[in-house]
Amino acid sequence: METVVSGIRPTGNLHLGNYFGAIKSFLKLQEEFNCFFFIADWHSLTTHPHPDNIRNSARTILAEYLACGIDPEKATLYLQSDVRETAELYLYLNMNAGIGELMRTASFKDKARKQMHIADAESDGSVEKEIFNENNKHSVSAGLLTYPTLMAADIIIHKAVKVPVGKDQEQNMEMARRFARRFNTTYGVDLFPEPASFYMSDKAVKVPGLDGSGKMGKSEGNAIYLVDDEKTIHKKVMKAVTDAGPKEPNSKKPEVIANLFTMMEIVSSKEAYNFFDEKYNNCEIRYGDMKKQLAEDISKFCAPIRERILDIQSNEDYMAKVARIGAEKAHESAAKTLKEVRQIIGFRPE
Ligand code: TYM
Repeated sequence: METVVSGIRPTGNLHLGNYFGAIKSFLKLQEEFNCFFFIADWHSLTTHPHPDNIRNSARTILAEYLACGIDPEKATLYLQSDVRETAELYLYLNMNAGIGELMRTASFKDKARKQMHIADAESDGSVEKEIFNENNKHSVSAGLLTYPTLMAADIIIHKAVKVPVGKDQEQNMEMARRFARRFNTTYGVDLFPEPASFYMSDKAVKVPGLDGSGKMGKSEGNAIYLVDDEKTIHKKVMKAVTDAGPKEPNSKKPEVIANLFTMMEIVSSKEAYNFFDEKYNNCEIRYGDMKKQLAEDISKFCAPIRERILDIQSNEDYMAKVARIGAEKAHESAAKTLKEVRQIIGFRPE
């Protein structure tokens, strides 16, 4: 049976972007494949969370994974930090990863820029200049730079062939494939398959934010969380940015409006979508009505998940058991791969 791996960073509650970009695929794949879904707590260290936050956030994500319908009887659900073998593979992969290729990844540049609070950095050159500035107290960590090698290690430690992710992970996935390939060619082996991104439909999903442009994200401050109640959702949706409306029939939708429609396409019925699309094309659209419908549909979608989150969170024993069993299963799979890796590199296998 083919193996599937994916993870989510525990940096807050899960939002609609996580659900429709990743978790929806997890639910489908767990029925057919050997799935490993984990909580990427090592990855969250790039933002230097407090130890209490690390524990609490991991627990939150575990409850939310379960509430979404990830079934621990079907898929292996574990904490990244419970499988130490991944860190060893990360070390080996780093030995063959170039600083140049890591520095060129868009997400590194983006995050490095954010961490350094460089408001008006130019897209090229200035980030590098700041990185080498030893007096910079917001120094950019080697952990941030090597984020893609850790992600590659997560994936190939189980020899995964499919990785369900959202559009924003495309470049990291490309790096993962590259590092898998490089290991094979460096040692003249055929140990790691090249992992492919998996999307539910024929193209990658990007759930938009409703605040104008870009994607929905925790750090973008525009997320609608699965645990949000009806009132909160209503408030967030009603605040969505719109414009004065189309002046001519069948005009192209500007980005802010297209985002609203994309969201409706994701959570609402086809009828509701078509109704507002037609109104837009006839220049009769009333954004207030559209937002009300959207808020209602999002609430309807989130309500049962929210209920299960609260329920599962109150059952500490159950969560601890799921994490323990998941850790054992993931460890077993990882240890097997690592034995081969050590032998190939020239170390004692055990
Ligand atoms: P993270 O924690 O940022 O996001 C988790 C998953 O949610 C998807 N996602 C979205 N999809 C569509 N639209 C959005 N607005 C949106 N926001 C988030 C992400 O694409 C992702 O699939 N690097 C990863 C975590 C990771 C990982 C891995 C993933 C670590 N190791 C190994 C796969 C395999 C990340 O930061 O995801």
